[in-house]
Amino acid sequence: MIDPASVLEAIATLRETRRFLDTPVPDEALAQVLEAATMASSLNNAQPWRFLVLREPSIRRALGDLIDAVSDELYGKESHSITGERTPLRDVPVLVVVCRRPLPTDAEWPSSVPAAPVYAAAQNLVLAARALGLGTRPIVLHRRRDATVRAMLGLPDDVEPCVIVPVGWPETGFGPLFRRPWESVVTYDRWSPA
Ligand SMILES: Cc1cc2nc3c(=O)[nH]c(=O)nc-3n(C[C@H](O)[C@H](O)[C@H](O)COP(=O)(O)O)c2cc1C
Repeated sequence: MIDPASVLEAIATLRETRRFLDTPVPDEALAQVLEAATMASSLNNAQPWRFLVLREPSIRRALGDLIDAVSDELYGKESHSITGERTPLRDVPVLVVVCRRPLPTDAEWPSSVPAAPVYAAAQNLVLAARALGLGTRPIVLHRRRDATVRAMLGLPDDVEPCVIVPVGWPETGFGPLFRRPWESVVTYDRWSPA
């Protein structure tokens, strides 16, 4: 029997991790979160995800610095990693690039559909990590440098690097979340713009 309180508490405290320790992530824990990611649902069980796990310092440095630079450019240096409150991504022990492989049926769908299972897999990954006490943060800023990232990672043209998830032990704990009250975003039976 699963304890609903534990699952709901994990979800309710699943805040992005901003500061990571440099303590290594054990292989077994990493395998558990990756396996959890592959348990996501997908249309026709096609499982269009692939996971590129970056552990070598040189590739983490290259990709991490690129993402942090995009972040600094968009939000300003003070709000981000290099000098500020976030751990530079190059120093997070593991970066997981969650990728999408194309399917022959992709063109039959509105464009937001084919990648949906990949984001579900990423959510499984961050939730499983949370259950093990590991911190994560979904990142899409690399998509603003697609060509560079593809070359850096040696990705084929048809593989999409949907989201990057740093994984490591958090310096402090998890949660609390700051979200709109759920009742304010739910309507019943008829759409309401409120
Ligand atoms: C699809 C997706 C993409 C995100 N991309 C980034 C990103 O590129 N960089 C980043 O620092 N955080 C990113 N985040 C994290 C969110 O900004 C963060 O979780 C949100 O502001 C809520 O903050 P909280 O997790 O502390 O509650 C992303 C989250 C999601 C779900």
